[in-house]
Amino acid sequence: MKPKEKNLAIVILAAGIGSRMKSSKPKVMHELAGRPMIQWLLQTAEQLKPQKIIVVTGPDMKDLEDAVRPHFFVTQKIRNGTGGALKCALPLLKGHKGPVLVLLGDAPLIDKTVLQSLIKKRDQHYGLSVLSAVLNDPTGYGRLITHDGTTLERIVEEKEANAAQKKINTVNTGVFCIDGSKIHSWAGKLQNKNNAKEFYITDLPAIAAKDKIKTAIVLTDSDAMGCNTRSDLAMLEHTVQWRLRYRHMMQGVTLIDPSRVTFSHDTALAPNVTIEPDVFFGPGVVVERDVHIRAFSYLEGVTIKQGATIGPFARLRPETVIGEDARIGNFVEIKKSTIGAGSKIGHLAYVGDCMMGKNVNFSAGAITVNYDGFAKHKTKIGDDAMIGSNVNLVAPVTVQDGAYIAAGSTITEDVPKNALAIERGVVVSKPGWALKHRARKK
Ligand code: UD1
Ligand code: CA
Repeated sequence: MKPKEKNLAIVILAAGIGSRMKSSKPKVMHELAGRPMIQWLLQTAEQLKPQKIIVVTGPDMKDLEDAVRPHFFVTQKIRNGTGGALKCALPLLKGHKGPVLVLLGDAPLIDKTVLQSLIKKRDQHYGLSVLSAVLNDPTGYGRLITHDGTTLERIVEEKEANAAQKKINTVNTGVFCIDGSKIHSWAGKLQNKNNAKEFYITDLPAIAAKDKIKTAIVLTDSDAMGCNTRSDLAMLEHTVQWRLRYRHMMQGVTLIDPSRVTFSHDTALAPNVTIEPDVFFGPGVVVERDVHIRAFSYLEGVTIKQGATIGPFARLRPETVIGEDARIGNFVEIKKSTIGAGSKIGHLAYVGDCMMGKNVNFSAGAITVNYDGFAKHKTKIGDDAMIGSNVNLVAPVTVQDGAYIAAGSTITEDVPKNALAIERGVVVSKPGWALKHRARKK
């Protein structure tokens, strides 16, 4: 590790309520690929191996505090702006002489290497460095007023900008790297004499300039952009999904139409897996080699072993393991169950709280009756059993190895090894009845 990086501190501003999201939870707790924004950013921050990470949170944000642990957090009691938020973190930076990297909680997809170049650039005789981007539509962002395009004079917020300044399309992404030995005195000079009556962190370059200290500009692409609305959130999700799709494809997964597969941040796919369009991965899915997932399947919390086939239209719910070469067909729901190798659940079935052996055939319309209105009960099915169509297995119940259950049976008792269990009414056929019935109706 370079000695310079050793004394890096990172401050993440995340106290805003995100009023433009019109949400009941803090903005940074909104998820991208199933993981809160703040955790995406923390992961990147951790990769920089800083001495400490401090997150500025707002009052009543317990979920956020939990997400931040074991890192430090401080509560900004009154939301008086990004500068106010930075000031809240200062007590935790007492005696810190190294660089301070300031990140915005609502810009979570920033790239590690971009941050490294921002830190490095500041090291080269600058008091601060600002990460900026050039946007076609800069509305809402702070604009960079430069001397010569490379050193910054000051940043003008949208609310303060005049018509000419509003036309500037080089904007502040909100990410700063600041000299830790100066940050206390500069932050102390921030004032809220502006249209928003807020302390703007973006006044720091102008304050540094008064000390004859220069601010560097580092340009980046749009992945540094923030999330203010649900529409921005969808844009970030789009970026995250394409990153995940690309990563899986590079690792040997076939996505027939990548734009139509939605991944979770933690989806684990082995090489030579094929995924058809319109498949959704919730959290906790692990897929081994040679698995084929057909269209319109919804998977969460499931491990799928080598060679299995899933779907189309399968729903696999948490705590499920699908064995090697098993075949799960259309309109099959499986929950909290283990399906043995080579078993087939081909169509229209519900399997819940079930331990199913190898090479079982679980036919169309068969279900485990696992819930009695109060509690869930377990079904055990041995190897090579044959469960006929429209069978109800009323749990708790065990079907031993090799047993047959006749179609249409409701099974309320354990079935011994290799037995046939049949539970059925007598069929009564009345010859010619239908002809008479039709004649009567006419
Ligand atoms: C801010 C910048 C703007 C920049 C833009 C980039 C300021 C004054 N403006 O504007 O120059 O172009 O980000 O996205 O810095 N926060 C707090 N406490 C507060 C207010 C905000 O912690 O009192 C946090 C928010 O949780 C958020 C971040 O700071 O994560 C940015 O706040 P936000 O209100 O979204 O700033 P912008 O208007 O986007
Ligand atoms: Ca913002």
